[in-house]
Amino acid sequence: MKILGIESSCDETAAAVIEDGKNMLSNVVASSMNMHIEFGGVVPEIAARSHIEAILPVIQQAVDDASCSLSDIDAIAVTNGAGLGGSLLIGVLTARTLAIAYKKPLYATNHVESHVYANFITETSLPDYVLPPEQPKFPMLAVIVSGGHSQLVLFRAHFDYTVLGQTRDDAIGEAFDKVAKILGLPYPGGPSIAHAALSGNPKQFVLPKAKMAKYDFSFSGLKTAVLRLAQAQIGEDYTFPSIRLPERLSEAQKHDIAASFQRVAIETVVDKVVLACEEFTPQSVVIAGGVGANTELRNQLQEKLPVSSIFPDSKLCTDNAAMVGSLGFFKHERNLPADDPFSLSTMPNLSM
Ligand code: KG4
Ligand code: ZN
Repeated sequence: MKILGIESSCDETAAAVIEDGKNMLSNVVASSMNMHIEFGGVVPEIAARSHIEAILPVIQQAVDDASCSLSDIDAIAVTNGAGLGGSLLIGVLTARTLAIAYKKPLYATNHVESHVYANFITETSLPDYVLPPEQPKFPMLAVIVSGGHSQLVLFRAHFDYTVLGQTRDDAIGEAFDKVAKILGLPYPGGPSIAHAALSGNPKQFVLPKAKMAKYDFSFSGLKTAVLRLAQAQIGEDYTFPSIRLPERLSEAQKHDIAASFQRVAIETVVDKVVLACEEFTPQSVVIAGGVGANTELRNQLQEKLPVSSIFPDSKLCTDNAAMVGSLGFFKHERNLPADDPFSLSTMPNLSM
């Protein structure tokens, strides 16, 4: 069973062909990231326009790489939320058109849920991927850590899940991005912070961990604490504009702040994952979303969890369509109702 996955929720235009939910026959990602760098974040209009230009060549490449044609595809899966309205629209309209033209079933997928399904991809003949040896088992605890979401979700089976907790303010990836801005490190902030942290002392500064209800998170206080710390380091008070901090902080100070922030942000997540493992004894713990690429997260989980956790290849942690194709397969296989290609709409605020 071959599923064509299509993803366009943010700044990546992506298409992939996935066989039987696990074999990645192709995975094509075109990013408009370079065009957003000078603005320090994704500009929705630029992203949407880039999707229009990229989507057909990306889909063609995905079917070519999979050595098949659109007529060989069994079903199409597309992200219809959450994400940027204009960006989602391009992927959804393209998928609808293809589903009508080629008479294929169409499945709308939730972007956050799709990130979890990157962990179900265990086979590929594409070069340079390190994939888990086998698919996760249920009950499965999903640690979803992206630019838009931080949540712990317990899956009893496919499509049978409970959200144990989530962030009440910023997502963890958003906190990485904002702290990077305070330190003058390039966008996207996650990889920049991780890189700067390599040269810093993670114990140099004490930063607060928010005390939240059982499995909930909060990262906005930590971000503000970093701002105050940076101001204090250069001998200024809270009125000092953050935009002028990077020129006043030394490289060593930036590295130490990045390392201290990263340690605490990651510890905040890992503490709750440990707690959830004690309460629910999952058979598998899977990591999903862009922050899943973070080495400190991988190391801390390895060290502190009673079960070994599963990580997708870091190229499958950030936005891609392989995860969409995998989730689409399970919808098709379990006979979940297909969506109407004549009316499927986008849902920018969709949650799990
Ligand atoms: O899942 P994703 O690609 O997009 C969303 O659906 O949000 O996640 C993007 C987020 C960004 O905030 C980025 O800074 C963060 O993932 N990220 C990282 C790393 N690589 C990407 N955060 C920490 N460490 C990394 N190595
Ligand atoms: Zn994402």
